[in-house]
Amino acid sequence: MPNTILVGAQWGDEGKGKIIDFLTDEADIVVRSQGGNNAGHTIVIGGDKYVLHLIPSGILRRSKTCVIANGVVIDPVSLVGEIEGLRARGVKVAKNLLISDAAHIVLPYHRSLDELRENQKGRNKIGTTKRGIGPAYADKVSRTGLRMGDLLRPDVFKAKLAQRIKENNALLKSHGMAALNGKKILEDYMAAAEVLKPFITNTVVFLNNALQLKSKMLFEGAQGTFLDIDHGTYPFVTSSNTTAGGACTGSGIPPHRIDSVMGVMKAYTTRVGEGPFTTEDEGLTDKLHAMGREFGATTGRPRRCGWFDAVATRYSAMVNGIDQISITNLDGLDGVENIRVCVAYRIDGKVIDFPPTDSDELKRCEPVYVEMPGWLKSTEKARKFSELPVKARDYVKKIAELTGAKLSIVSIGPARAQTIRL
Ligand code: GDP
Ligand code: IMO
Ligand code: MG
Repeated sequence: MPNTILVGAQWGDEGKGKIIDFLTDEADIVVRSQGGNNAGHTIVIGGDKYVLHLIPSGILRRSKTCVIANGVVIDPVSLVGEIEGLRARGVKVAKNLLISDAAHIVLPYHRSLDELRENQKGRNKIGTTKRGIGPAYADKVSRTGLRMGDLLRPDVFKAKLAQRIKENNALLKSHGMAALNGKKILEDYMAAAEVLKPFITNTVVFLNNALQLKSKMLFEGAQGTFLDIDHGTYPFVTSSNTTAGGACTGSGIPPHRIDSVMGVMKAYTTRVGEGPFTTEDEGLTDKLHAMGREFGATTGRPRRCGWFDAVATRYSAMVNGIDQISITNLDGLDGVENIRVCVAYRIDGKVIDFPPTDSDELKRCEPVYVEMPGWLKSTEKARKFSELPVKARDYVKKIAELTGAKLSIVSIGPARAQTIRL
């Protein structure tokens, strides 16, 4: 497998973790290059379920190297919890994990500010994961952030932290929120630093050396295209570039060393949090929730569900340069008699084939659907494409054609084994 960027082609939770775990078999290094512990990537192997937030989904394959690169924002205390949780289950987390010294740190005041801003927005809230992601990226861009490398220099870390605590406590207090205990934060972060020290390094140099040695890399996108800070449904987005370009800036790998971009998409659409969602459908939402499906891996919130939106995935293929796609959760439609696929939007009497930039305008768009007959059979046991019902094959071929990319993988259940490679 060549160097591949894997991106979510919808609003996140497309099943990226599952597909990364599957593809890691053919790769040497798995890299996370943006986002933070707002992500929740689920992997199921046999009867064991793992949910990863910061650690790349390649970690369950012992001989592979996982890198948390410079573009990620890291909550060190949460990361230590994740490492310990995996170790307690017998997963090796040692020299196979590297953490960038340039990755920015999420601090408790980022979480407080995330909450404050959501509360201030009231009805217009974004519905963030409240992990402090937006405020941490804001500090990075404002050039006031602390970085993982600072944890290796306790005196530097202490001085920078003291300054930022002073400024942020003044801000929090002015909004009637409790001041944070700087001493306790220093203690907690220094304790986390003790655990994380052996992993922290210059990952840009490591990755580029690995390229020279012809290592095969897999870049694990977090969130999805329509949550991208530039290309998503602004302001109902996350604070990083979730699209393919973000993998290069977020890891220090030159764009011309990327060979392929895989888009992961569900056979329908989901979204968690607020914001426009053209194909949202109450009936489908109720049906999937009744099956116990589509509850968030990070916050447990019920996901909003709707029909496959080919206007969105076509746009996603364009901005990411998607050349191959994985379709997941096909089995979610097993019991649906008439399946709808959105092929265009209608707004102000006009039919358009791209999502408008403005979220208010997008909210006014009506979906133009085509209907396809359901297969009304279980797909969960299929292990070859030819074992899928004919109507299910027709459906995935149709949505790949509408998206405009080659179909590579079809997923028909959460487990590693429930994956069909074409
Ligand atoms: P990610 O954030 O993109 O990694 O996706 P999440 O893990 O947040 O959400 C995807 C959910 O769908 C998880 O519960 C997965 O275990 C599950 N999943 C992935 N692929 C399939 C599939 O083909 N069928 C079913 N039934 N579940 C799947
Ligand atoms: P994975 O990697 C789905 C959503 C939040 C909210 C918006 C901003 O598991 O696909 P943030 O906390 O990032 O400031 O929230 O983005 N969001 C996700 N939705 N999957 C994710 O990650 C998400 N990460 C953030 O629900 O709408
Ligand atoms: Mg998720």
